[in-house]
Amino acid sequence: MRTSARSSASSIARNPITPSDLHVRPATPGDLPAIQSIYAHHVLSGLASFEEIPPDIDEIRRRFDEVSSRGLPYLAADMGGSVVGYGYCNLFRARSAYRFVLEDSIYVKDGLFGKGIGTALLSLLIQRCTELGYRQLIAVIGDSGNAGSINLHASLGFLRSGTLRSTGFKFGRWVDTVTMQRPLGDGDGTLPDADPLEA
Ligand SMILES: CC(C)(COP(=O)(O)OP(=O)(O)OC[C@H]1O[C@@H](n2cnc3c(N)ncnc32)[C@H](O)[C@@H]1OP(=O)(O)O)[C@@H](O)C(=O)NCCC(=O)NCCS
Repeated sequence: MRTSARSSASSIARNPITPSDLHVRPATPGDLPAIQSIYAHHVLSGLASFEEIPPDIDEIRRRFDEVSSRGLPYLAADMGGSVVGYGYCNLFRARSAYRFVLEDSIYVKDGLFGKGIGTALLSLLIQRCTELGYRQLIAVIGDSGNAGSINLHASLGFLRSGTLRSTGFKFGRWVDTVTMQRPLGDGDGTLPDADPLEA
């Protein structure tokens, strides 16, 4: 699945000014140090994640293995051989009746926002999760002022489903959680034939 960001994004969304050397591909264990570094920056400096202590490489690997073992997509955005962003989908909730619902997570390297990297990652996540038979994709966004994430999700068909007020406390203040939701495939328009595919 070595997919050009430009082509993967184009079938679902508008075509942002994506760098021509950007490729979105499945992440590998070798990408995890770069992914750990990208995420650590956002944990320490932003409100998107409600974690306050960056997970170390072993914990990032455990999370990667969990997503991969479920057959769910974990993608790296590769630009000129460097990982400049990543995104994955995992179960929204573990209880069985939630089995058609996933939650996405996307992080782009600081300084490279607004170049279409997030769009390329989320577009391909949507495509893969649809192919696997899931029916709803949820974004749980830290901070109602997170315009980047809210606009990214809105631009790819997510609708805002709610605001959980003051559910986080980070950097000395209360922080909202915004939830957004996008149907996949038939959404709730048909009943499923079978459970989502496992790889
Ligand atoms: C949110 C994030 C993943 C978006 O990635 P990105 O590569 O900057 O996004 P894109 O360049 O593909 O832009 C996607 C859309 O969001 C909009 N957008 C991006 N950053 C924005 C910002 N700071 N303010 C307002 N809109 C913004 C873009 O304009 C674009 O919409 P448009 O095509 O309709 O103009 C990235 O900013 C990031 O990593 N942020 C910090 C972590 C985070 O919030 N992750 C999401 C966790 S749920």
